[in-house]
Amino acid sequence: MENNGAKIEEGGVSSKNKIDYDKLIDQFGCQRLDQSFVDRVFRLTGRSPHIFLRRNVFFPHRDLNEVLDAYERGDKFYLYTGRGLSSEALHLGHLIPFMFTKYLQEAFKVPLVIQLTDDEKCMWKNLTVEESKRLARENAKDIIACGFDVSRTFIFSDFDYVGGAFYENMVRVAKCVTYNKAVPSFPSSFPHLFSGNDKLCCLIPCAIDQDPYFRMTRDVAPRLGYKKPALIESSFFPALQGVSGKMNAGDPNSAIYVTDSPKEIKNKVNKYAFSGGQDSVENHRKYGANLEVDIPFKYLSFFLEDDEELEHIRKEYGSGRMLTGEVKKKLIWWKDTVQQGQRLLMRWSMRSWQLDHFQICSTESAGS
Ligand code: TYM
Repeated sequence: MENNGAKIEEGGVSSKNKIDYDKLIDQFGCQRLDQSFVDRVFRLTGRSPHIFLRRNVFFPHRDLNEVLDAYERGDKFYLYTGRGLSSEALHLGHLIPFMFTKYLQEAFKVPLVIQLTDDEKCMWKNLTVEESKRLARENAKDIIACGFDVSRTFIFSDFDYVGGAFYENMVRVAKCVTYNKAVPSFPSSFPHLFSGNDKLCCLIPCAIDQDPYFRMTRDVAPRLGYKKPALIESSFFPALQGVSGKMNAGDPNSAIYVTDSPKEIKNKVNKYAFSGGQDSVENHRKYGANLEVDIPFKYLSFFLEDDEELEHIRKEYGSGRMLTGEVKKKLIWWKDTVQQGQRLLMRWSMRSWQLDHFQICSTESAGS
């Protein structure tokens, strides 16, 4: 899909220009989230809005209001998201839908299914079955490290789970479209979780690259007598090389991976993060940084929780009083101490029984 010279495809975007999200939302036929939605989430859950809602990282959606209407009437919904295993580990962009999904699960106390499409990578990327399954387990560790509620989360790989009712739905869907990530959008695919609850709403958090697949899923649903899934979509977290670049699994320097060591992170940020600062300190003091294209600032605006500190950096860096090196330092500090520390702690304390536990999820605990 082309937009403003940008090519939107699964896994990201490559472009000469910045993506025009307003245009993309209109082209795709999505709706926009507004402040009233953010207020409604606060009212319904009593939890302060997630940083990604406050900062408009997630703003296109489809039928979100229906999900909230049902929730307000006392009906539950379930969350569904997934990962395609393009690399050994997740990068910061992949973390965005998972971090947000964790917040939604915690706020609404709903079940979650996570699909790992290990079969796709095996077929299309020429990996062996064993290697694809290994990647699925490695990626699952990063996903679990986001902190999902083990009693409400079912993580499955296609190789492990496809069969039975799931396969029946796959065949039904395959008569209409040829891909299998539509199938988890229908509760009847998980009889051990949602038996007898075929009208349960499904909400899919993902980035906007997934929209075309789920648009097709929504077209197919009524033909099969199923409910259309709702979606909440994020904008793209940019590559280190700039807002128009694409993170590329083949180029480890285009992204920060959750497995990168503090030394690698420091090196990547200092060497590759595109700067909107001026070419000399003199010019920088005079003209300030261009924050629209500055990657260290963009990264901080996704993740730095403290609104006041971000505002301070915006003013100081934008006016030239703060230099690029100082902003990069803040980003490296955040990545090292907060994100890296939390992830390593989770990962180190994880044993394989815990991984398996996410795959054995009882009907009561997932549905309650
Ligand atoms: P995959 O593995 O390419 O991406 C996993 C999730 O990360 C999102 N994403 C990003 N979000 C923000 N910024 C980025 N730069 C960025 N890059 C990727 C993707 O939108 C996705 O949500 N086929 C899918 C796997 C899948 C799936 C699903 C995803 C199966 N079922 C249901 C979402 C919902 C894939 O290859 O995703």
